[in-house]
Order: sequence, then C-alpha cells, then structure tokens
Amino acid sequence: MLPRSVLGVVALAVLVMVGCEAPVLEPQVWTRECSYLRSCAPQGLDVGVAVSTAVLADPAAREAVLQDASVITPEWEMKMAALLPSRGVYDFAAADSLVRFAQGQGIRVRGHTLVWHEAFPPWLESETLERTQALALLREYIGRVVARYRGEIAVWDVVNEAFDAQGQYRPSPWYRWIGPEYVEWAFRFAHEADPQARLYYNDYDLEWGGPKLEAVLSLVRNLRLRGVPIHGVGFQAHHRVDHLPSSAQWADAFRRVRESGLEVSITELDIRVPLPLQPSLLQAQAQGYARVLSACRAEPACVSFSTWGVGDRGSWVPGFFPGWGGALLRDEEYRPKPAYWAVRNALADPRKSLEMSAADWYYRGSPLSFLSVNP
Ligand code: G3I
Repeated sequence: MLPRSVLGVVALAVLVMVGCEAPVLEPQVWTRECSYLRSCAPQGLDVGVAVSTAVLADPAAREAVLQDASVITPEWEMKMAALLPSRGVYDFAAADSLVRFAQGQGIRVRGHTLVWHEAFPPWLESETLERTQALALLREYIGRVVARYRGEIAVWDVVNEAFDAQGQYRPSPWYRWIGPEYVEWAFRFAHEADPQARLYYNDYDLEWGGPKLEAVLSLVRNLRLRGVPIHGVGFQAHHRVDHLPSSAQWADAFRRVRESGLEVSITELDIRVPLPLQPSLLQAQAQGYARVLSACRAEPACVSFSTWGVGDRGSWVPGFFPGWGGALLRDEEYRPKPAYWAVRNALADPRKSLEMSAADWYYRGSPLSFLSVNP
C-alpha cells in the first residue's frame, strides 16, 4: 500500500492532468488538539514574534500576538538609539510598556539588542572615545539596561552582527574604541547585571555555512574557553522564497553550534516573496517556513522560533527590499496565510523530525507549480 503522502501527490497530479483544479482539501491537521501557534508548540520550544508599541496598539495585531507568542522581541524599543536618545538621558517608557504587556500575558521577552553597529545613538556616533572611556560607557549602559529588567527579560541578544560576510569584525564604534574584546566585555557586563539571563550572540546568514559561521563558532568557543558567560547563538534567518538553505545546511549549522556547547534560536525568521503575491509562491513560502521549523525541531539544542513581525503590515521588508514583501505568517490584516498553517501543523506534529515533502501538504485549490520548488 503506497503511503498516503505519495497517493496524495498522484491524486493531485492526475486531477491536474485531466484539467481539474486540485481538490479543495482542508489543511492537514495533526492528531494533537491545538488551535494557534502558542498552544501547538511542543514543550521546551518557545514560539514568538517581533513586536513594537505601534503594532501592539492595533487590536487585531494584539490578538494575534496573544494567539501565537510565548516570547516577544521588541523590534526597536530596546535598541541603544531608543533607550539612550541623548547623552545621559535614558528613555525606558516604550520598553517598559512592552515588558508590562508581556508580564501581564505570561509571555517571555527577548531583549534586543544591547550592542550593534546600527540603531546607534546619533549623539554618540560622532564621538572619539579612549578605550577606558568606551569600556566605562559600555559597562554603564549594559549594566543600567539589563539590571532594570533583571528577572523580567529571560534572554538578551547581547551582541548583534559583529562580523561581515567574510568573517571579519565590522568596524563598529565599539570595535574602533575597544578592539575585538568589546564582545567579551559586553557579555561579562550583561552577566554581571543579571546572572540569570540567557545571553546570545545574534547574526544573519550563519545557516549557509562559510566564513561568517566559522568566525562566530571560533568566537563563541574562545569565549567559553575563557569562562565568558554566553549561552546561545541566534540565527536571524531573513530569507527570500527562491533562495533558501537546504535542510542539511540548517542541520549542519545548528549541530556545530550545539557541539560548541551552546543553544540555538531562530530569532528573526521572515521569508520574503516577490510582489504582487501569487498563490504558488505562498505555497513555496509555506514549505520554506516548515523546513526551518522542522530543522529547529530536529535539533535538540533549538529552543526558540521567532518570526520578525506579527503580520505583513509594518514589516521592514518592503522598505528594505523594493518589490518584495509578504514575508510573514499573517497577511496585512493579520489573517493566517498558508505559511501559518504549515508552521502550526509542523509545531503540532508529534514526530520530532519533520522532513516535509510537498505531498505532505494539501492546500485549498493550489496549483501544483509549487511542487517544482527546491524540496
Ligand atoms: O527613528 C525613529 C525614532 O525617532 C522614533 O522614536 C521611533 C518611534 O517608533 O521610530 C524610529 O523609526 C524607525 C524605527 O525602526 C521604528 O520603526 C527607525 O528610523 C528605523 O531605523 C528602525 O528600523 C528598524 C531597524 O532594525 C533598525 O533598528 C526596523 O524597524 C527593524 O525591523 C530592523 O530590525 C533588524 C534587527 O534589529 C536586526 N536584524 C535585522 C533586522 C532587519 O533590519
């Protein structure tokens, strides 16, 4: 007896060949009863979204966050330019409001991000600091911010994007003032301010392998050898639907981080699609999301899976990548897209490793063209 998944493909292929539309089939729902993402996530895996105070002011977005997230990441409100907009003057109002919202709903908060070359305060950008001055400022800033949320923020992206694509340190202000040791000091200062917080290095394009991943692995191994408190590596995972890492590439990169003694999180996943949105590409996007989640679920050290936004409305993608958009699980009105159901089913599936084939996914009347996407 052929397995159901093969029969599914054959049935759909036959129907298309005789000119029928693929049958209207319900998304395949797994046995475990669950509704939205948060209730479908397996024990030990956080699922979340990036939010802003503006997004949370929208009732539809707020409802979606409550349905989907056990962790939220402030998209802007905890960056240095937001928290220290002028010399010596901290502004915690927006960050406080997000932490209060999360606490009221039993949602964890991922602090993002203490040290980054972007979202750097303009008043500081033009400074030239001596090494000791820069270290004192770094200690004061990280100490002030992390201590404020001690016991309330479970995990911090301590350093974000320290390396370029060639695995070289970016010439950020902190690098210029302190040297490469700024990374170590950032982690030490964060741990000093909240010894319970999980401390991450976060970056993009690590999953492809290559010089940036090698530089990150060398860094984290070196930090651990010297007893510097670091707990995980965040994979931002900003991708395009027609150029996605293979399951093997995800698995290999995750394994190498685990073998370095650290946990793994998907921190900012979005999979952009060319505009205007076409159903076949939305199916391919669904497969792409399922692939990333499957790789995370198959990796024992993968503890969190977040997308970079609640829905397509307000996503950073269209402004940054003209002609691209539709990158999130929910659309402009925060309604679930095919990728949402693919993620929900992959979360709910009791099998640990979910090697998804196109045949495993039935969609309402979708053309078979998505079958051609790189499995
Ligand atoms: O500049 C104003 C500021 O004056 C005002 O107080 C604030 C009020 O909300 O808005 C600020 O506007 C923009 C801010 O987003 C909020 O929308 C900033 O100009 C703009 O630069 C900022 O862009 C963010 C960007 O990081 C830079 O911080 C994007 O929303 C955010 O999606 C993007 O996220 C990054 C991750 O942090 C790191 N990984 C890559 C990812 C995408 O670039």
